[in-house]
Amino acid sequence: MSEIGDRKKDHIKFTVDEQAQYSQSTGFQRYQFVHNALPEIDFEDVSTEKVLLGRTFSFPLFISSMTGGYSEAGQVNAIIAEFCQEKNIPFGVGSQRAMLEDDSLTDTFSIVRKKAPNAFICSNIGGVQLIGGLQKDSIKRMIDSIEADAIIVHLNPLQELMQPEGDRNFKGVLDGIEHLIKKTTIPVIVKETGAGISQSVAKKLLNVGVSVIDVAGAGGTSWAKVENLRESNFEPNIDFDEWGISTTHCLIDISKIKQPQDFELISSGGIRSAFDIVKSLCLGADFAASAQPFIKAISVNGLEGAEELFLKWEKDLKTILTLLGCQSVDDLKSSHLKLKS
Ligand SMILES: Cc1cc2nc3c(=O)[nH]c(=O)nc-3n(C[C@H](O)[C@H](O)[C@H](O)COP(=O)(O)O)c2cc1C
Repeated sequence: MSEIGDRKKDHIKFTVDEQAQYSQSTGFQRYQFVHNALPEIDFEDVSTEKVLLGRTFSFPLFISSMTGGYSEAGQVNAIIAEFCQEKNIPFGVGSQRAMLEDDSLTDTFSIVRKKAPNAFICSNIGGVQLIGGLQKDSIKRMIDSIEADAIIVHLNPLQELMQPEGDRNFKGVLDGIEHLIKKTTIPVIVKETGAGISQSVAKKLLNVGVSVIDVAGAGGTSWAKVENLRESNFEPNIDFDEWGISTTHCLIDISKIKQPQDFELISSGGIRSAFDIVKSLCLGADFAASAQPFIKAISVNGLEGAEELFLKWEKDLKTILTLLGCQSVDDLKSSHLKLKS
């Protein structure tokens, strides 16, 4: 197996158990809902639909970019694709760098379009791979292999610096993103991988034409922890295990610039329940995204595992909306939430 393949396999191994989760909190625990004793809502009529990038999904949840690039990853991607097709929710494949370097790995990504002909599927590439401008042919291969509806660029300087073999030069990532946006006709989403995006970084991304920002803040999977747990890491540095801006801090900070700026905001990093999704929307997010709970459920029980988890979150989200007196997700407001005293 290639070096990238080994690394990707380790990533799933360490994220499915709980040892690679941040100790610092997302911040959602600091909030509670304002209960409505007179909701005047029929639970059966509550709608969980939500629009993102002009498309209506059944539920405000994105399955975050995770895998691809080695043989078993194709099977995981097939399950995620089947699940998202069935539920009408969007998802992203993991970094496509491996298939750009080795064409024989393309099938581990392209399986998703076979399993999910109508789903909203996103390509994925690291910001570092964009330095100097990604070749037109590479952009085309990434998009065509999965008939992508959007491209996700991930920013992960913390993770790279914790990897002994990781990249060290981050000069030119923003120019690379701008170049990518100019060379493609589909929307570009930029996400972190768990250390969060600040308001000043968000402004820079929006200025070059990014359509959607996914904060991927701290409080869920810690990529410093993941990299420090890998046996092949001979220089672990646990002092950075808790580095990152919490998810709620990112949401509050970035939602302040939603007007006059026009963009959509995704809440991710530690989304572990329907409560976290609803709190995210009350704090200004348009959508939520989750990685670790779904890869864990799939590792334990395949497609059924993901379905069971989704059913629980769906029922809980409808229950929360009812208890807040909201007919639909779009009725959620900041006033439905209060800081715990
Ligand atoms: C097994 C695994 C592999 C991942 N690989 C990628 C990747 O290739 N590209 C990417 O943008 N993010 C990747 N991520 C990061 C997630 O998309 C997400 O941003 C991060 O894990 C925080 O979300 P969580 O707390 O719900 O896990 C990966 C996450 C997991 C769990």
